Amino acid sequence: MTASPQVEVHPDKQTLADAAGARLLLVIVDAQARHDGPVHLVLTGGSMGSAVLASFGAMPDNDAIHWGRIHLWWGDERYLPAGDPDRNQTQNGAALLESVPIPAANVHAVAGPDSSASAEASAAVYAQAVAEQVGGSFDIVLLGVGSDGHIASLFPHHPAQRTEGTAAVAVHDSPKPPPDRVSLTFERLGRARQVWFLVSGADKAQAVSAALAPETDRWDVPASGVKGQDLTIWLLDAPAAGRVGDVGRY
Ligand code: 6PG
Repeated sequence: MTASPQVEVHPDKQTLADAAGARLLLVIVDAQARHDGPVHLVLTGGSMGSAVLASFGAMPDNDAIHWGRIHLWWGDERYLPAGDPDRNQTQNGAALLESVPIPAANVHAVAGPDSSASAEASAAVYAQAVAEQVGGSFDIVLLGVGSDGHIASLFPHHPAQRTEGTAAVAVHDSPKPPPDRVSLTFERLGRARQVWFLVSGADKAQAVSAALAPETDRWDVPASGVKGQDLTIWLLDAPAAGRVGDVGRY
């Protein structure tokens, strides 16, 4: 059973990034102390996702992590060639991944047009990798949120939202550039122990409050449609929380 979402508010974007980076360290170290298996972490694109990874990477204690037992995935990827500066992988790499000793085999990138025939083919290969390697649930899914309420590459009123029976879907005509993308499906994003929404900025305040309102339909506000099995938490800065009402603040 999934509990109600928690909301945690920080004064500004940097404090939010630092708090989320520290939380990430703690949750991973705790999981690795409890079992010897892999920890599957799903990263997000967007500026907030990279800010969190940069804070995480700057923490002096991140060598407490057994990097060989971490597996990294992406909630979505822009369908662009490897190394393109607009790929989420490139941006997250510059923020953290190039500076930690994670085995290359544990970094599960989405193929771009340089190594895949189409976004559909790339989504199929990615879905198969998720099915083979994750099996059950992701441990932690990080999600940025757009001002229109999108998460990963699942946009309001976009048919890709409706894909079922597979972990990943090709997305075309994305309202946020670039137009071609690959995204985890709602079904797969929801198979996660913990889901963390990372949101900064007043332009997101309306989307955040709509996503938290119980009657909201995910077709209109995709961020309302993903819950963690153990925890759903909204990590916000004060401007993004401006329309949430009475929530806990640090
Ligand atoms: C992408 C993202 C997307 C992003 C949000 C929030 O590929 O563009 O995965 O879903 O996370 O648009 O982005 P910001 O944190 O930059 O606002």
